[in-house]
Amino acid sequence: MNKQKILIVFGTRPEAIKMAPVVKEFKKNPDVFETKVCVTAQHREMLDQVLDFFEITPDYDLDIMESNQNLSLLTSGILGGVNKVLEDFKPDFMYVQGDTTTSFAASLSAYYSGVKVCHVEAGLRTFDKWAPFPEEINRQLTGKLADYHFAPTQRAKDNLLVENVDVTTILVTGNTVIDALLYSAEKVDSKEQSEYRKLDSLIEQGKKLILVTGHRRENFGEGLNNICNALRRIAGEEDVQIIYPVHLNPNVQKPVYDLLGNIKNITLIEPLEYESFVWLMKRSYLMITDSGGIQEEAPSLGKPVLVTREKTERPEAIDAGTVVLVGTNEERIVQECLLLVNNEEQYKSMSLRHNPYGDGNAAGKIVEFQRGLV
Ligand code: UD1
Ligand code: UDP
Repeated sequence: MNKQKILIVFGTRPEAIKMAPVVKEFKKNPDVFETKVCVTAQHREMLDQVLDFFEITPDYDLDIMESNQNLSLLTSGILGGVNKVLEDFKPDFMYVQGDTTTSFAASLSAYYSGVKVCHVEAGLRTFDKWAPFPEEINRQLTGKLADYHFAPTQRAKDNLLVENVDVTTILVTGNTVIDALLYSAEKVDSKEQSEYRKLDSLIEQGKKLILVTGHRRENFGEGLNNICNALRRIAGEEDVQIIYPVHLNPNVQKPVYDLLGNIKNITLIEPLEYESFVWLMKRSYLMITDSGGIQEEAPSLGKPVLVTREKTERPEAIDAGTVVLVGTNEERIVQECLLLVNNEEQYKSMSLRHNPYGDGNAAGKIVEFQRGLV
């Protein structure tokens, strides 16, 4: 029997984290699959950190990142680059993940070439094309181009069914980020704490640690300024420390360093490699973020999350009670945060450990399904 030729394409930090378990699972079966990895490198440093940690060496690297890249030029660069890879490798199936411009543009290129598209983390929707921007449209278009849909939850599957996607092409798998998280958390637990000495030295003992991240385009400008102002006020509390690994996008770096540099109780640092970030999540009291992936990881760690977004395509975490949508309103962020810092009952009720995003076996289910496709 001929092997199935699988091309796995990703470009940014979260795609790499969420695709790493899928890459590893495919590579465990070299008798069935010929698997190659193509990175667009829509991100560079933040992607390379993940490739190093999961020991993935790409077969193709399009090296597309430029500073402050424009979405149209990024899209056309990916289309052209992926097209060359398709001509060289001639895969039967292409795997993409999530909602980035890499996922959408690579899927479009595959469709034009008659290569079947398999979409991991399919079916998430806000149904608002401006929130998150441009991710909502990226994932809707990727969904239209895809032949097979790996939905993390039943709700995501239901969204696809509403769009008349053939039910036999959808599989509910859980989210592969849980596979990645459990793998990393195990490494963290098995290592001596002294391995994290550098990071540990940043933490002020006896304070409640608030871990912050943020990068959404629709928050640039006023939204991000409001978030920073809220963080300054929260940092006024004596018993909290905020640690904020700042995303490398210049539209994030500048305002965050301008508004939050040199403030007591706020520590700004470079983005952390995944293992260290998992270690820090485990050490934190709560998180404030607009990240999709962190909302999915937090319930496994029993950490409450305040989500600085107006809309979410991840309502399961809200239902599970570990996430509150606080938007970008300064007053609301401060209030909700201080409620958790000062009210133990409220904190306990949010730090539940039920994770609606799966049990860490999503990649195995995906590869099993792929075996059945001939
Ligand atoms: C991208 C994705 C977003 C995803 C996020 C995860 C799109 C349009 N956006 O947003 O969906 O949630 O990644 O982080 O697909 N930069 C670096 N080094 C890096 C990474 C970024 O310098 O390793 C800087 C560059 O100047 C780059 C800029 O950040 O041009 C923006 O990167 P881009 O991928 O366009 O957008 P993100 O905001 O990172
Ligand atoms: N993360 C990381 N280092 C950091 C910040 C985040 O490894 O300094 C991880 C985090 O645990 C999650 C992912 O990166 O798995 C989220 O990426 P990001 O917030 O960039 O994108 P999103 O999830 O919003 O698409």
